[in-house]
Amino acid sequence: MSPSVQAELVCFNTSCRATYAITDVLYNCPKCGGLLEARYSGLHPDPAELKRLFRDRRASNLPLDASGVWRYRELFPFLEDYSHVVTLREGQTPLLDAPLAAKFGGLDRITFKHQGFNPTGSFKDNGMTCGAAQARRLGMQRVACVSTGNTSASMAAYAAAGGLEALIFLPHGNISFGKLAQALEYGAKTLEVEANFDQILALVRTLAEKLGIYLLNSVNPFRIEGQKSIMFEMLDQRDWNAPDWVVLPGGNLGNTSAFGKALREAWEIGLLDRLPRLAVIQAEGAAPFFDLFHKGGEFHAVPNPETLATAIRIGDPVSWPKALHEVRTTNGVVEKVSEQEIADAKAQIGRAGIGCEPASAATLAGIRKLTAAGIIDRNADVVAVLTGNVLKDPDYIYKYHTDQLQAPGGVKIRSTYGNRSIVVPNDPARIEEVLRQGAAI
Ligand code: F0G
Repeated sequence: MSPSVQAELVCFNTSCRATYAITDVLYNCPKCGGLLEARYSGLHPDPAELKRLFRDRRASNLPLDASGVWRYRELFPFLEDYSHVVTLREGQTPLLDAPLAAKFGGLDRITFKHQGFNPTGSFKDNGMTCGAAQARRLGMQRVACVSTGNTSASMAAYAAAGGLEALIFLPHGNISFGKLAQALEYGAKTLEVEANFDQILALVRTLAEKLGIYLLNSVNPFRIEGQKSIMFEMLDQRDWNAPDWVVLPGGNLGNTSAFGKALREAWEIGLLDRLPRLAVIQAEGAAPFFDLFHKGGEFHAVPNPETLATAIRIGDPVSWPKALHEVRTTNGVVEKVSEQEIADAKAQIGRAGIGCEPASAATLAGIRKLTAAGIIDRNADVVAVLTGNVLKDPDYIYKYHTDQLQAPGGVKIRSTYGNRSIVVPNDPARIEEVLRQGAAI
C-alpha cells in the first residue's frame, strides 16, 4: 500500500458512521451493531495507468500478479505489505458466451462469468484469499465459518495453505457431499450442527468471540474486499466496458454487497463511465430479500428457508442492508425463481457445455423471468455470474436426469431436459441396435 493511502473500517449505518482501525478484530460496529466496511482515503490513481498496470500483470509470473484477485490490489489496499498473502492463484475465471443459454433466457446473447473455475470451485476463493491474509496479518491462528458448503471448502483450503487451523460448522444433512468432502480433504475440523445456517451463524459468532477465533463468513469486511475482484476482472476482460446488467444469485448477500461496492468504487475513480444494473435472484423458498425489495418496510427473515439449491438456503442474510443499498444505487432489481425453474435453467447451462451448481443456475432462471416481464431487454448486454462448479452437487444432477428430483415438501421436479444413461449388455449387435434407435448413427 502506498504511504499516502489510509485504510479504515467504517460503520455502514448512515446514522452512525463510526470508524475503527483496519486492524481491529470486528465484524459489526460496537456502537450500533451495524455492518462494517473497508474504506480508503488518499487514493488518487490515474485510471488509464491502472488499466495498463492490470493488463501488464497478466504476463507476469509473480504469484501476486498471477492471482486474479491480487492483480487488482490497488483497489483494496488494506494491507501494509503482502507478506501474509496466501494465494492459490484464485480468480482468473473466464467469460463464456453461451448462445443456447441466451435463447433460453430470452436474450440475443449472454456471457457467463464462471467463478466455478476457481481453485476450490466457487467464488468464495476470491474473498477467502483476502480474509486469510487479514487473519494472518492479525496473528490469528484459528479461523472459523458456518457454511452451506462453499465457504467452508474455500476456507479449509486457504487455512491449510496458510498454516491456520480451520474450524467449520455445517448444517447437518443440508450440504452437498462434494463440498463436505472438500472440507475433510483439506483437513478442517468439521462440525455438523443440527440446525440451519442462520441458527448456526448466531452460534458461531458467540463462540468466535469467546474462543478468540477469527470469523471468515462474509460478515467479515475483508471477504467482501476480495470478492470485489470478480467485478474488476470481468470489467478488465471487457476492456472496462460496463455491461447493462450483472445478474447473480442471492443467499447471504455478501456477493451482492461486494459487486455493488466494486462497481461504485470503479465508477468513482474513473475506471467506468456508467454503472451496470444488478439483478439479484433468490430461490422462492428462501427469498427474504425479494420480499424486502418488493414490499418495503422492515426486513423479515424467513424462519425455515427451503430450496434444493442448498448454497442459498438462507433465511436471515446478514448483509441485507449493504445489498439493499447496492441494488438501489445501481437501479437494480430482485427476482425469485421456483425449484423447477432453477433445475431447467441448470440443465440448459449444462447443455451449453458450461455447467454449474444449482444456486448458480438461479441466474439464468431469473433472466428468463425478467426478459419475459420486459425488465431486461432482449438485446441487453448481460453478464451472469455462475458462482459454483458443476461438480459441486452431482447428486442433484443425477436425480434430475433420472427423473427422481423432488423439491422440498415432496413436489416432483420434471426432468424437462433429462438425459439418462442407458444400460446395455456387452453385446455389439445389441449396442448397435440401441444406438440406431436414437438415430444418432
Ligand atoms: N452461489 C453459491 C454457489 C454459493 O455457495 C453461495 C453462498 C451463493 C451463491 C450466495 O452468495 O451468500 O454472497 O449471497 N454460499 C455461502 C456458503 C453462504 O456458506 O458457502 P451470497
